[in-house]
Amino acid sequence: MRKTQIVKKAKGPAKITLKAPWEIDLLRKANAIVAEVLYTLKETIAPGVSAWDLNRIAEEIVQKRGALPAFKGYRGYPFSLCVSVNEEVVHGMPLKEKVLKEGDIVSLDFGAVYEGYVGDAALTVAVGEISEEAQRLMEVTEEALYRAIDKARIGNRVQDISATIQNVAEKAGFNVIRDFVGHGIGRNLHEPPEVPNFGRRGKGPKLMAGMVLAIEPMVVTGDYAIEILPDGWTAVTKDRGLAAHFEHSVVITPKGPEILSKI
Ligand code: MF3
Ligand code: CO
Repeated sequence: MRKTQIVKKAKGPAKITLKAPWEIDLLRKANAIVAEVLYTLKETIAPGVSAWDLNRIAEEIVQKRGALPAFKGYRGYPFSLCVSVNEEVVHGMPLKEKVLKEGDIVSLDFGAVYEGYVGDAALTVAVGEISEEAQRLMEVTEEALYRAIDKARIGNRVQDISATIQNVAEKAGFNVIRDFVGHGIGRNLHEPPEVPNFGRRGKGPKLMAGMVLAIEPMVVTGDYAIEILPDGWTAVTKDRGLAAHFEHSVVITPKGPEILSKI
């Protein structure tokens, strides 16, 4: 999600909702549909495939499962799937003319609403043979996600997740995006708290059982500055360095983190 630009109201930050077990069951179902879509698209990706086809396949699956696409119509976004190629960080549009080619890395981001509850996940896929740098970027970003998920435990704080992502990315010589953040999720796609991909250990809201977070590292090979293309959506790196994006929706339980969007 876009990092909040507006100043917090005098009332203070909106509060984080804790989900009941029955709500977590519905979130698990919504995320299982998201995982099925992403897995199917990952298997479909090859040189010559159009992002448009991927969006269509995603819509077929979500409909077959009795769910709705979460992104379509969200703040006016006109598609169900985001397809972001190479220097595109997030919110790339699945246009017919966006045809994948050997050597590309492509980030797929999908959300589904099932019985009023929203699932959200993303991954980055290689198209055929890719450069060593692109390969390492994808591996580091995915590792940052899993290391961060391991911090999603009662007693830790939101920025323990953030700092872990930043640390993994920067130790590898990469940078994290500042303008987009992870988020709470539930009946709404974006709920408090924001989950930045950078921060300081021990800071931010305390993590509690029943919190559901979409943790989504966006990592780039170059500078973290981004710009939005004239289409009003596609975020690209200013220096046109490569970007990768991995995301899971995770519930915090007394036994530790549970990944709801596991493939
Ligand atoms: N996973 C992205 C996010 O949390 C997807 C949003 S795309 C949008 O912001 F179109 F819905 F905005
Ligand atoms: Co998200």
